[in-house]
Amino acid sequence: MCGIVAYIGHREAYPIVVKGLKRLEYRGYDSAGVALLNEKKEFLVYKKTGKVSDLEASVGTQDTHAHTGMGHTRWATHGAPNDLNAHPHLSQNGEFAIIHNGIIENYASLKKALIDRGHIFKSETDTEVLIHLIEEIAKNNEVTFEEAVRMSLTQVVGAYAIVILSKTNPNYLIGARKGSPMVIGVGEGEHFIASDATPIVEYTRNVIYLNDGELAIVDNQKLTVKTIDNTIKTPYIQELEINLESIEKGGFDHFMMKEIFEQPRSILDSYRGRIHVNEATITMAGIDAFEDKLKNIKRIIIVGCGTSWHAGLVGEYLFEDFARIPVEVEYASEFRYRNPIINEDDFVIAISQSGETADTLAALELAKSKGATIFGICNVVGSSIPRMTDAGAYTHAGPEIGVASTKAFTAQVTALTLMALSIAQKRGTISTVRLRELLTELETIPAKVEKTLESNDYIKTIAAQIKDTRNALYLGRGYGFPIALEGALKLKEISYIHAEGYPAAEMKHGPIALIDEEMPVVVIATQHSNYEKVISNIQEVRARKGKVIAIATKGDEHIKEQADHVIYIPECEEAMLPLLATIPLQLLSYHIAVMRECNVDQPRNLAKSVTVE
Ligand code: G6P
Repeated sequence: MCGIVAYIGHREAYPIVVKGLKRLEYRGYDSAGVALLNEKKEFLVYKKTGKVSDLEASVGTQDTHAHTGMGHTRWATHGAPNDLNAHPHLSQNGEFAIIHNGIIENYASLKKALIDRGHIFKSETDTEVLIHLIEEIAKNNEVTFEEAVRMSLTQVVGAYAIVILSKTNPNYLIGARKGSPMVIGVGEGEHFIASDATPIVEYTRNVIYLNDGELAIVDNQKLTVKTIDNTIKTPYIQELEINLESIEKGGFDHFMMKEIFEQPRSILDSYRGRIHVNEATITMAGIDAFEDKLKNIKRIIIVGCGTSWHAGLVGEYLFEDFARIPVEVEYASEFRYRNPIINEDDFVIAISQSGETADTLAALELAKSKGATIFGICNVVGSSIPRMTDAGAYTHAGPEIGVASTKAFTAQVTALTLMALSIAQKRGTISTVRLRELLTELETIPAKVEKTLESNDYIKTIAAQIKDTRNALYLGRGYGFPIALEGALKLKEISYIHAEGYPAAEMKHGPIALIDEEMPVVVIATQHSNYEKVISNIQEVRARKGKVIAIATKGDEHIKEQADHVIYIPECEEAMLPLLATIPLQLLSYHIAVMRECNVDQPRNLAKSVTVE
């Protein structure tokens, strides 16, 4: 987590840095800070607990004149979120300044040694240790700024994306990464560095994604990339795919709402060009490349965290239903710590919106080390997971800024649907007729999502009735079960109401004890397999006076007698249910959070991209 942004060039740095930080605020919002390096070779450092807007207000009309500068938005790990622990941090002699995203794992031993040698620290952060180390190496070895940074990084264990400024070397800055993302924007007589491309896209479309273990030495005209062990690399300039509109709110009050309403388009974008209904074929380069392996595969393992893990659960149903391959879905954070049995025949799929989640990356590394084929389903182009996998599929949902994932989830599910069907075809476990039927259905989904979104006002009225609840239960069976989990997670994340997702029939084995007249119970009760059984589960809830909100199939009149509220979604193939049933649950949690005056886009304690383990 944490967002970093830096600028060197002919423009005023401060407005660029602050605007960039606002775009990166989804990565953390405990504190923000900037360091500007002016023509008098002075640092102007401003830091503030809270949001970037708090920083801006505290800077006010103070001097910000500089053409070089950097800023940081923090998600606290080492040290409380206060002004002192906010980045940037200065070295003891004030010569160097640093911003850092990641964790220096061996900071305690480095710090102890530095203290023994007379260093005095101002903050509790791991980051300050690194800048003191750089100062010491520069002084003791009489090496250049660049050498001091490079040499210090050889002593560091952990993950980082850092930018460092030096007062006596005002003409360039240094960026470096290992395990945390870093993008460099290449402009005309200017360069930008950021955690992702959103602070850069307004100024240039030419970017370089720095690789792990690389440093970039950047002045306003030129850029040198080298490895920590001092090998010069040729930077590869890529053109950005995102545009400015996609990272602005476009008339919506919140990014989350904008992203919910984008789903007809984002689902379409994730299958666009990949399906050919008439021929009943699917083109997915990453899957096609492994045709032989997939024909005989014995097992798929899916790893992910949070919402992406829920998409993985949907994937399990899809792969087993259509491709008839056993699937295990694992929390990435658990998978790697329990000595899992993985071998060369396994196909391991990592699902991640950001492509940067530390636990997911580590799980993939483990799978790779055991010889498994590793595959990524990611949204952020050029992120770490797509760069380390054997193959993959981008979800093409476009930038997702709201911390609670919405359109990325449905795009992940769409990509998984295509993968399952494509593998099924390769393995001969699906007929052409059936495949054509499913692809035809998939093409109707964007319009059906559009239709589902029409319930927004009605869902708002339900939200008003349950917004003060302290608990909520979400129930579903089959494909509805991961959706129940996802609905509960959405409510927890943004409205701070305790919510649990449960398989509807499992309710009898525990959660039923919680049900009383105050408990809203959201039930996925569409007319698919298990419909009758789910209706029985609803009756069990009603008998205990629970308030039932049913997600039902359009035209089902019978359910009105069973539930307090019914939200209809269009009829669909059961395998496509997650793509529709998720939408009302996203809207419900959104409206409840707004009514409770919660910060929908930046819920407390959360960050969009969790780059620490
Ligand atoms: C964080 C976010 C979630 C997300 C999860 C996994 O917890 O707040 O919305 O689902 O990380 O992130 P990933 O980028 O790997 O999908």
